[in-house]
Amino acid sequence: MSAAARSAPPTLALVNVSKSFGAVRALRDVTLELHAGEVHALAGENGAGKSTVVKTFAGVHRPDGGEVRVDGEPVTFGGPADAQQAGVAVIYQEPTLFPDLSVAENIFMGRQPRSALRRIDRRTMHERTAALFERLGVALDPQQPARGLSIADQQVVEIAKAISRDARVLIMDEPTAALTGQEVARLFAVTRTLQEQGCAILFISHRLEEIFELCQRVTTLRDGGYIGTDPVAGLTPDDLVRRMVGRDLDALYPKQDVTPGDVALKVDRLTREGAFTDVSFEVRRGEIVALAGLVGAGRSEVARAIFGVDRWDAGLVEIAGSRLPVGSPTAAMAAGLALVPEDRRQQGLVMDMSIERNMGLTQLRSLRRETGRGPLISRTVERDRARDWALRLQLKYARLTDTVGVLSGGNQQKVVLAKWLATEPTVLIVDEPTRGIDVGTKAEVHRLLSELAAQDLAVLMISSDLPEVIGMADRVLVMHEGRLAAEIPRAQATEESVMAAATGRAGTGKAA
Ligand SMILES: Nc1ncnc2c1ncn2[C@@H]1O[C@H](COP(=O)(O)OP(=O)(O)OP(=O)(O)O)[C@@H](O)[C@H]1O
Ligand SMILES: [Mg+2]
Repeated sequence: MSAAARSAPPTLALVNVSKSFGAVRALRDVTLELHAGEVHALAGENGAGKSTVVKTFAGVHRPDGGEVRVDGEPVTFGGPADAQQAGVAVIYQEPTLFPDLSVAENIFMGRQPRSALRRIDRRTMHERTAALFERLGVALDPQQPARGLSIADQQVVEIAKAISRDARVLIMDEPTAALTGQEVARLFAVTRTLQEQGCAILFISHRLEEIFELCQRVTTLRDGGYIGTDPVAGLTPDDLVRRMVGRDLDALYPKQDVTPGDVALKVDRLTREGAFTDVSFEVRRGEIVALAGLVGAGRSEVARAIFGVDRWDAGLVEIAGSRLPVGSPTAAMAAGLALVPEDRRQQGLVMDMSIERNMGLTQLRSLRRETGRGPLISRTVERDRARDWALRLQLKYARLTDTVGVLSGGNQQKVVLAKWLATEPTVLIVDEPTRGIDVGTKAEVHRLLSELAAQDLAVLMISSDLPEVIGMADRVLVMHEGRLAAEIPRAQATEESVMAAATGRAGTGKAA
């Protein structure tokens, strides 16, 4: 950043801002200054207050104390429209486009260029959209409907919309959580273009390497408190973790050595037309087997079929030697299978139900058995168990009776994990177990998986996080275009060997 830019007041700032929700102090005395031409990271554990900062900048929340400033002047945002008016654009993790409108219509929603006869001038609208995309360096068709765009493309459309409104500040809350490596690279390229054009950018991610790659400064929050703002260049990843967590971290991949036991999950020549073909593998008790591959390779589809959410067309699945019927999650659960789905918000939780009830949902049977009182469920047992799991996963919450909807994103993920781990399954399938989870808890989830495996659980772990795959798996199965492309034992698993198989440049392990 040039000296001139630095001496100008920050484009957007929070100064000594506090914000509470009931008894929860989400922000205490937080100061954050965004300058033109910088990409500024906001770091902190799950529940530290990052999204609350975002929503305060976005005009969704009003601070209880302190000020929001635009170009050094105090402002009061009465709502999101005021923030937008001031040039603040927020890109949320799940974009909010209208699926039936075209990309161009979404961008110019309510502001379409008109012809002399007041008709919508589509040609101009499409030309302007194309010009926006060119400015961002992306190739998207302005006339294409928003429906069917990948999340990454939808984000780019949201960014184009923001610049078409002359946004001077771009705020991105975990934009990369659901993106592939290539999509992240494109998002970063777009971000750098905007930065060069003088935008002030706030970036949130639990992947620390992304912060080091993209950002110049980082502000850290811990439990709603302001820890500090530092130049990224002067920090090591360990320094940043220490600021976030308040202590040094134990091993991130605490994998214990185990001797595998009996086959717990057997998948034989499983095929679902259009999704995956001829997939065969086994997972033994005590083993953690990773299912790696690029997004779209068919990994989640295999998991969904095994669990019975989707049907399969051919092949068979056995849990501890007994064959599962096609398409029955109830039978799968009864046989000892648990699946922690990828899209936890949609598939894993009842948002307006309490934390303890959500955790108890999968255990109705055992809760009943324990109380010996027929269909009545003991609330005390439910609560005790929920409290146990909350502690093990370091859940940040006020009361177990609070609805899951008020938890921060990462803490919602922990509730889903708890809910399935509490069923004490024979086979656990976890789809992206640590996505959206902060680095401290990530280590905790890994320790837990390793511990459970050592106690005889069979774990199938789908993950796009290569270090996690390499660090945690006894064996790595790699899928490529709907087929198993390679099986790599722990000793030979490297990021290179896994990527080679995932991109179809196999040659490692046993080809299918
Ligand atoms: N509307 C709300 N009502 C009650 N509590 C809330 C509300 N919004 C946030 N909180 C609480 O404020 C705290 C901060 O939450 P916030 O969403 O800002 O965390 P975060 O840093 O974004 O975490 P994550 O990394 O998990 O997304 C949490 O304890 C959360 O439960
Ligand atoms: Mg958040």
